[in-house]
Amino acid sequence: MKILITGSAGFIGYHLTKKLLSEGHKIFGIDNLNEYYDVELKNARLKKLESYVKKSDIQNEYKFSKVDLSIENDLKDLFNENNFDVVINLAAQAGVRYSLKNPQVYIDSNITGFVNLLEQIKSNPVQHFIFASSSSVYGVNSIQPFKSSDNTDYPISLYAASKKSNELLAHSYSYLYGIPTTGLRFFTVYGPYGRPDMAYYKFTEAIFNNKSIDIYNNGKMLRDFTYIDDIVEGIFRLLEKNPKKIDSKSTNSDAHYKIYNIGNNNPVTLEKFINCIEDSCGIKANKNPLPMQPGDVPVTFADIDELISDIEFQPKTSIDDGIKNFVQWYREFNNI
Ligand SMILES: NC(=O)c1ccc[n+]([C@@H]2O[C@H](COP(=O)([O-])OP(=O)(O)OC[C@H]3O[C@@H](n4cnc5c(N)ncnc54)[C@H](O)[C@@H]3O)[C@@H](O)[C@H]2O)c1
Repeated sequence: MKILITGSAGFIGYHLTKKLLSEGHKIFGIDNLNEYYDVELKNARLKKLESYVKKSDIQNEYKFSKVDLSIENDLKDLFNENNFDVVINLAAQAGVRYSLKNPQVYIDSNITGFVNLLEQIKSNPVQHFIFASSSSVYGVNSIQPFKSSDNTDYPISLYAASKKSNELLAHSYSYLYGIPTTGLRFFTVYGPYGRPDMAYYKFTEAIFNNKSIDIYNNGKMLRDFTYIDDIVEGIFRLLEKNPKKIDSKSTNSDAHYKIYNIGNNNPVTLEKFINCIEDSCGIKANKNPLPMQPGDVPVTFADIDELISDIEFQPKTSIDDGIKNFVQWYREFNNI
């Protein structure tokens, strides 16, 4: 299939592009290469993809272009020149804390950009539209594990509100224009080539540079950390899974639209996660305890029963192995 992956220079986009190329799909990746975190890392991912494509002799299967979702005309040109079978939207302004200080970029990329993409899909129908949502839509949900049918009307950050908006916008387009659509609520994804703004990356960086690490809420937060390969395998299995019609007593919507949690289903405390990082680095961290941050949630815990029954999804990577892989990559990437 010919697949458009937005945000392909990002963490999940890079890994997904590689996996789908290796499965024989043609990939067109786009990304605006913004400076939210080190652009060198985004360029390094793109270079790695290019050398993978060269080595595997599949030059015709992969293209990349610098495109910003919020610029409507650029997207229009892209869709006029290509017929995509599937669109996977991973491009977004991520980060909960950053959204408290930089609200506008979340509106530009996650709302305007998202609607621009839906408009193109409306005029250029695809077999499947898959998009990234987030566990943050659950806010301070107190019932665990989180089920995709739980109430998500109370996001506690602009980032979370933008992801919830994506789900609503995607449903309305799916309903009106018959777009088969799947939304994925990712739960704290980690792994090699990961995001420097995320805690596991910052901790590892600080440990190797002999700096103290800020630990919010004494590390008592629970997170359903999910290894990148498990996430990518889940998305791969969903590609050709046509979302069934909504089957709910509370709505007459007959849209082919489905929201899944995609997580590890095994939350651990931040404290335990840090212990794993310390073990893999072979260095004890210097810890700086801080209170809980606004917008942060105390627990994330994915109920993944629906993914298990629909695609036999089964996360395989333990926290110990996943962190070991990440730290090993970090050492190599930074010549440590
Ligand atoms: N990594 C996680 O733990 C996690 C958890 C929940 C949800 N998500 C969601 O998954 C998706 C991928 O996340 P990631 O961790 O790979 O993040 P990432 O920041 O590494 O990747 C996102 C990419 O999108 C690009 N981008 C941002 N705005 C854009 C725009 N307007 N036009 C084009 N490109 C743009 C960025 O340059 C970046 O390369 C995002 O939608 C994110 O919100 C991720």
